[in-house]
Amino acid sequence: MTGQVLVASNRGPVSYTLGDDGSLTAKRGGGGLVSGLSALGPGAGTWVCAALGDGDREAARRAGPRLDLADTGGQAVRMLDIPPLTFDAAYNGIANSVLWFVHHLLYQTPFEPVFDADFEARWADYRAYNAAFAEALADEAAPGAAVLVQDYHLSLVPWLLRERRPDVRVGHFSHTPWAPPELFRVLPDVVACEVLLGILGADRAAFLTRRWADAFAACCADLLGAEVTDEGVTFEGRTTRLGVHGLGADGDFLRERAFRPDVDERLAALREQVGDRRTIVRVDRTELSKNIVRGLLAYRRLLTDRPWWRGRVTHVAFAYPSRQDLAVYRDYTAEVSRVADEINAAFGAEGWTPVVLHVKDDFARSLAAYRMADVALVNPIRDGMNLVAKEVPVVSERGCALVLSREAGAAAELGDDALMVNPYDIAGTAEALHMALSLSDQEREERGKRLAAAATALPPRAWFLDQLEALRA
Ligand code: G6P
Repeated sequence: MTGQVLVASNRGPVSYTLGDDGSLTAKRGGGGLVSGLSALGPGAGTWVCAALGDGDREAARRAGPRLDLADTGGQAVRMLDIPPLTFDAAYNGIANSVLWFVHHLLYQTPFEPVFDADFEARWADYRAYNAAFAEALADEAAPGAAVLVQDYHLSLVPWLLRERRPDVRVGHFSHTPWAPPELFRVLPDVVACEVLLGILGADRAAFLTRRWADAFAACCADLLGAEVTDEGVTFEGRTTRLGVHGLGADGDFLRERAFRPDVDERLAALREQVGDRRTIVRVDRTELSKNIVRGLLAYRRLLTDRPWWRGRVTHVAFAYPSRQDLAVYRDYTAEVSRVADEINAAFGAEGWTPVVLHVKDDFARSLAAYRMADVALVNPIRDGMNLVAKEVPVVSERGCALVLSREAGAAAELGDDALMVNPYDIAGTAEALHMALSLSDQEREERGKRLAAAATALPPRAWFLDQLEALRA
């Protein structure tokens, strides 16, 4: 069965750190794809991913084509040792500095796609990196295998794989939003068309919401002159079907994991800091599109405009490091801490720290914060889905209110019971925080229950199996 289903993604299900003594320590990751693939049963499927750092590279070199099953929990993983400069140009230089910005509508200095003298060279590296994946997949795939290619890092893979292996079924899944045509055109024409044609190499291209699927189809019509019908997108006689699969939270896993002793311990520590005050929780990667600074400014506005809340509420904000190879992310990380410190300096009082900011990644502590949340703040500028918006209502102990950006994919499913905000509107977000904090216990609990039900409608295993079934249909 192994060769029959393949998953390809930049980041794999395991990562390695290299010790000074040359030892390798493996760490397994979680997330939708990991639990999705587990639906096939133990050891089924093969995952092709990139070596992301020195530890991964060393592991890939030592292991040969497949990683040690003891490290991966039995999952067959082929980790590609792509030359570091090629990888850096493709991942940092194109995927994260250009494509990510375009799809998240980050167009204003300093958050803007990087087009410099090196752009063409970086684009050539992105092609080479995609070709390395296509080669490995072509080599791994059994006749007629189903290959599920993930995200904007690998947009050229479907096309490149089809050229090498016309017998396999290829699906592409975008975990990001998709930019509307007039904004997608920010990309150089050749690049924009290559990305679209790359994905159209798939039999099926899938998205987290209808909105992103429609935007992709509109780009194909606008830039390529492709025909869009209910069937999908047809270009030069070939049709790529479109699909929508709104990844949900893994309710069973979260409800069990969030009540283990390590989470209890962290909950007790947080309670010590927060006391019995109301709690506004946010948990994010420190990601430009997550709009963390405006979230903090909205909280400051709440304390300024509605002084009654001073001393009665605490903002528990977890902003975990992300993409620190990029200067713009490092600067943003510093800005988040600076604004949190400013708020604490301006409003803090004996026994009350208005913002409790943690920047070191700790999953158990995130779950502890979910448990204590009265309000979850999720205000991205734009987001493919946003799973935090779905996870907090599942875990929160007293039912939590959700302040949610209308630009998050999750808004399509949770919009009825969340308090919706325009992510650019700081005053509006402050007002929504006030309303969320002011809900009666009954109202909050009822909304929380409905949010949790909607959030778990398509858990990762079903999400994954649905895609596979649709691809094979
Ligand atoms: C988003 C992307 C994923 C990516 C994740 C973390 O969710 O859609 O493909 O893995 O961010 O980003 P990173 O650059 O650390 O892999």
